[in-house]
Amino acid sequence: MKPKVVIGNWKMNKSFDEAEDLISDIEDALDGLNINTLVVLSPPYLYLELTTDHAAEANFECAAQNCSQFKNGAYTGEISANMLADLDVEFCIIGHSERRKYFGETNAILAEKVNRLTEVDMIPVYCCGEVVEERKAGTHFEVVEKQIKEGLFHLSPEAFERVIIAYEPVWAIGTGLTATPQQAEEMHLFIRSLVEKKYGTEIAYNLHIIYGGSCNPSNALELFSQPNVDGGLIGGASLKAEDFVEIVEAAETVGKEN
Ligand code: PGA
Repeated sequence: MKPKVVIGNWKMNKSFDEAEDLISDIEDALDGLNINTLVVLSPPYLYLELTTDHAAEANFECAAQNCSQFKNGAYTGEISANMLADLDVEFCIIGHSERRKYFGETNAILAEKVNRLTEVDMIPVYCCGEVVEERKAGTHFEVVEKQIKEGLFHLSPEAFERVIIAYEPVWAIGTGLTATPQQAEEMHLFIRSLVEKKYGTEIAYNLHIIYGGSCNPSNALELFSQPNVDGGLIGGASLKAEDFVEIVEAAETVGKEN
């Protein structure tokens, strides 16, 4: 079975000192453990270098939370995929629902961001998920299908193989309302079957589809036990080392059972 993936999305939280403490606490807790799970910390841009410095010696990797859709040039305030790659940041979260909602990111913009990342051999963590009205109206599969087709399906098989997909129902993010393991499994299976139709069985099987939305130490084990849930994108619970490490342990436990 492929290893699980657990990514901590810190969003716009923590001072520099707090970030240092959190990274060190996670590093210490994972130190010496022979873990199979791919653990990734995604702090704000300003703490990326700190994180990659630690990651070089530790059991985790580092992700940015966003990147520019442009390669370089007169784009004040933007950070390019190239700059991230230069800092040894290997992963980048793309299309989080907060970026779609507050910063106007469309599937077309995200397709460009995905291109910039794959051009520099970084791994996009492409987020998708429906809002509550879409879930209630029963259009959630359609919505996710469109997000995935428009943001990712222009990629060659070689580029697509590098992608991680995060299914994050927007109604579950930061709300304490987790999707049931059945709701998560059903959507992940749907996503995998879309990928299978486009890229074939092997690429679909190897794809990591992780779940995000109020995932915490008490529900992680059950969510990660679903056959198509390959790990988690963790927001609030990634801000406390103890909680985050417990979630990593849940991923390890499921990984070992299978
Ligand atoms: P949450 O956030 O775990 O706080 O719900 C998840 C995310 O937004 O990635």
